[in-house]
Amino acid sequence: MNTITVIGSINLDTTLRVKEMPKPGETIHAIEHFTAGGGKGANQAVAAKRSEAKTFFIGAVGNDGAGIMMSDLLSQEEIDLTAVTTLDNESTGQAFIMVDSHGENSIMIYSGANNTFTPQQVRDNEEIIKQSDFVIAQFESAIDSTIEAFSLARQHGIKTILNPAPALENVPEELLKVTDMIIPNETETEILTGIKITDEASMQEAAQHLHNLGIEAVIITVGSKGAFYDVQGKNGIVPAFKVEAVDTTAAGDTFIGAMSSILQSDFSNLEEAIRYGNKASSLTVQRFGAQPSIPYKKELIK
Ligand code: RIB
Ligand code: NA
Repeated sequence: MNTITVIGSINLDTTLRVKEMPKPGETIHAIEHFTAGGGKGANQAVAAKRSEAKTFFIGAVGNDGAGIMMSDLLSQEEIDLTAVTTLDNESTGQAFIMVDSHGENSIMIYSGANNTFTPQQVRDNEEIIKQSDFVIAQFESAIDSTIEAFSLARQHGIKTILNPAPALENVPEELLKVTDMIIPNETETEILTGIKITDEASMQEAAQHLHNLGIEAVIITVGSKGAFYDVQGKNGIVPAFKVEAVDTTAAGDTFIGAMSSILQSDFSNLEEAIRYGNKASSLTVQRFGAQPSIPYKKELIK
């Protein structure tokens, strides 16, 4: 089983279920309200751990109730939190989510502590990076710290996986140079490459663009269609499982965490790993909330 280090965000999610999203100026009644563990980084770590990877986290929470709650939740998962610091004068990351009756969501995040932890904190945890099979990051936390983590990983021959979400204009070239695998969705792919994803040919073209930036492996997640991959001269689409979605929150995160828990470092079993990730995210979308909806390995291998 792999050892995974996730560097990234920890959020407390507050979700309102609504029939339809409110229009500007409109006030509506929500059907349900709940809080749950979230944050793209933490969700990916939970997905990897529930698929039985040894999982480390590098990140930060604030010195507040949300931080205590999130640290408790993640330690109950038995994710190693030695590289998670509590920052005074910062609040724990929070996400405010609306989910409509089609399972679509709209999310606002306040980064707080996620944006404030430093490259020095990463260097202090070089030992964790060194013993990993993969180091995974997203765009919800301090980017200079992510660059530091990926650079250290590269120095030690550890593979890095970047989930460029939420979309960011002008991704630093120095980060892409130390990225081995990138996993954007369609929108993020277009922002990264300028190529609009309409069909498989456009996916191949976008993947080539990303290879030209020095990235060996590309997976473009295409929602209910599944995932396109392009690595070592091989490409194709691994179709998604057809299910009825009630809440897509953390679907992408589940895919990434679960997939990387079984991925070989040379990417030789990529198709199999993608199929496993697709299976995991197909369960996530059928349940409410981010972390509460992420499946365990025993639900995926039957
Ligand atoms: O990817 C889903 C996550 O995005 C949510 O858990 C929320 O915290 C936001 O970060
Ligand atoms: Na969900």
